[in-house]
Amino acid sequence: MDNDAQRKKVVLTCVQPTGKLHLGNYLGAVKNWIAYQESCECYFGIVDMHAITIPYVPADLRKNVYSLAAQYMACGIDPSKCNMFVQSNVVGHADLAWILGCICPLGQLERMTQYKDKARKHANNLCSGLLYYPVLMAADILIYNADIVPVGEDQKQHIEITRDLAQKFNRTYSDTFVLPEPYIPKTGARIMSLQSPDSKMSKSDPNQNGTIYITDDADTLRKKIMSAVTDSDTAVRYDEANKPGISNLMNIMSSLGGMGISDIEDSFAGKNYGEFKKAVADVVVEALSPVRERYDALVADKDALNKVLSDGAAAAQRRADRIMSKVRRKVGFVDTRAK
Ligand code: AMP
Ligand code: TRP
Repeated sequence: MDNDAQRKKVVLTCVQPTGKLHLGNYLGAVKNWIAYQESCECYFGIVDMHAITIPYVPADLRKNVYSLAAQYMACGIDPSKCNMFVQSNVVGHADLAWILGCICPLGQLERMTQYKDKARKHANNLCSGLLYYPVLMAADILIYNADIVPVGEDQKQHIEITRDLAQKFNRTYSDTFVLPEPYIPKTGARIMSLQSPDSKMSKSDPNQNGTIYITDDADTLRKKIMSAVTDSDTAVRYDEANKPGISNLMNIMSSLGGMGISDIEDSFAGKNYGEFKKAVADVVVEALSPVRERYDALVADKDALNKVLSDGAAAAQRRADRIMSKVRRKVGFVDTRAK
């Protein structure tokens, strides 16, 4: 195991290639990863093997992998500073998941909250891959001996099981894995739906006008913001409990435009909601237009995307191979392959 105190921390996170990134994903997650690129050794995985645990269309999966890679790069994930790869392109994730599964109690998997939720949703089409999902996720993390795993609050239980499995492996076969630490951003980064500001902005919001996608065009952005639900008061004042819609717009304006909440209150004193919304729309359009332009260019150049993902997978494979050769030896697998 690396024990050089000076070595860079290894940061790993993964996302499922489903759909488009929204403003909540950008401000609550991707922005933090961009900061890590400067000081850490970063691995960003697009987890296509996790995506097939629920019913899906292969052609959409293929398209979504490229689209997501382009969206991340458009947001600022820089392939010259990190390794972005597709999970199924790195050999070893499934092998390690199998090994970890053989030390993982079945009851622990059956008790996972996300499994229970999804099992309910897909009750008449339930595959064992869904139950095994957390073991594969543990393998995604441990195969790189990651120090830090930035994730959303909902993934906390999955990091706990990863740590349990790492500990159990270390106890059973001797010290091998680092115990990863989750990095869960503070609740301040919660962006709410524009249409129902009491719930989180989400891609599964039934009212899609409440969700700002980073690739929305300027007209769509303006329409969504101008029709955001507010309250019957008139003052632009921060009050999450009583004015959730206005407070959410203030958070968005502050995060994207860089001005403080009290500066926003001062500059809109005596002005109406219409003027305020128009100013929010200006800030959002100015921040997201370059992102959309970069996305359009990136997604159109499939050769360049293939090169980024193939370089990322090669770097990820080098690190994974080092760790997997130890794992294989420790569990008693012989290697009869020609060297
Ligand atoms: P999801 O879209 O649920 O897969 O989440 C991907 C990442 O984005 C996780 O790290 C979440 O915590 C973050 N995220 C999702 N929705 C929001 C939101 N409305 N506000 C802030 N962060 C969010
Ligand atoms: N389960 C995560 C999600 O749905 C995605 C994921 C898979 C992941 N493997 C991971 C996240 C490893 C962090 C590390 O968001």
